[in-house]
Amino acid sequence: MSESRPLIEIISESKDEALHDSLRRELKAVKPSQDAIYQKLGVKPIRPEDIPRDDSPKDFEGRYQAYNFTTENLGAYMPHMDLNGKGILAVAGSSDFSIAAYALGAKDITAVDIMPGACLFGELKTAGLVEFDREDFMDFFATTGDKVFDSVSFDYHKYLRLRDLLSDTARSFFDQLIRPEGNHPSLSPDHLLITKIQSMEDLKNMSYYLRDNKTYMQAQARFKPVLYYPQSITDRLVDASHGRQKYDMVYLSNVPTYLKDEGKQRVISEGRRVLTPKGNIIYTQFRSNDDIDPYRSEFERGLDAHNTFTGGSLKGMVVKSEAMVSTGYEPDHKLVVRSLTPNYSLGRRLSGILRR
Ligand SMILES: C[S@@+](CC[C@H](N)C(=O)[O-])C[C@H]1O[C@@H](n2cnc3c(N)ncnc32)[C@H](O)[C@@H]1O
Repeated sequence: MSESRPLIEIISESKDEALHDSLRRELKAVKPSQDAIYQKLGVKPIRPEDIPRDDSPKDFEGRYQAYNFTTENLGAYMPHMDLNGKGILAVAGSSDFSIAAYALGAKDITAVDIMPGACLFGELKTAGLVEFDREDFMDFFATTGDKVFDSVSFDYHKYLRLRDLLSDTARSFFDQLIRPEGNHPSLSPDHLLITKIQSMEDLKNMSYYLRDNKTYMQAQARFKPVLYYPQSITDRLVDASHGRQKYDMVYLSNVPTYLKDEGKQRVISEGRRVLTPKGNIIYTQFRSNDDIDPYRSEFERGLDAHNTFTGGSLKGMVVKSEAMVSTGYEPDHKLVVRSLTPNYSLGRRLSGILRR
């Protein structure tokens, strides 16, 4: 007779498999809707060699680049936000906010990004969350240990496990990049992928859901598919308002930089139409420059600047440039990243405003 394994272990394994199966089914179920969105919004098939090389684009519209990981220290403030049961419209960026928000109890997340590449990459990343354990996830999207982006990144055999979970549009895009003969040269941190990861330890803390196995598994257990809209935030807000969609939170961190004044006004005027009665637009800006006008005086009155209007409220803040949490752009980025860990006052102050 073969040795029997403890019952508890068997139960937890089968529970995991059931969870993975149901997540896979859910992802597959949204594929047609995702393709329909791409088609409606005119996402065109593109060859990787036609993607212009630019590792720090300032004008994102229509680009196929993607932030592969967060540029913000989500781990320092997201656990203090009340996301439980909330329906959220968020800018996709790296999709790390969306994954972390699910891990923290969000009910439903819709993502919008003016870069189609961010939406396609978001599909790959969320498929990775569903399919991989934490080690495999980090190997595939970054690499564990001190090395970042080496031969195990975007491994073809691992990719085969994700293909079926992608929309047709995303699958044909990544099929050109992740190939049996080796990755296309475009799939590199200075071409398609924008975030420069300098340290895996920082990345684990900043992303929140990668900090340890327990949090990663919580993110998996609470995950639901994200629908990606490759369009500008203002267009998405107008469309959502026509479709009578409502959100408890419109989360736009690091976006004001890229909006012109008119766009900033329109986000507020259109955004309030899609908020539930107690909903919030969260509008943060991690550089102290003129970008955030015309809300600057409101924000600079204090970190708790808070403006209520019918059908929701606007919360926002400007954090001075030394608090910029991007890795890689500042020479002393490590110091910058660490300065936003929860033990530092800025992390706490940011948490304070977001909680209210
Ligand atoms: C600095 S990144 C944010 C990265 C994010 N902080 C993260 O950690 O993942 C800004 C993102 O906003 C998107 N974006 C910029 N302007 C936009 C607009 N008008 N509408 C929608 N998305 C926009 C960019 O394409 C980019 O993915």
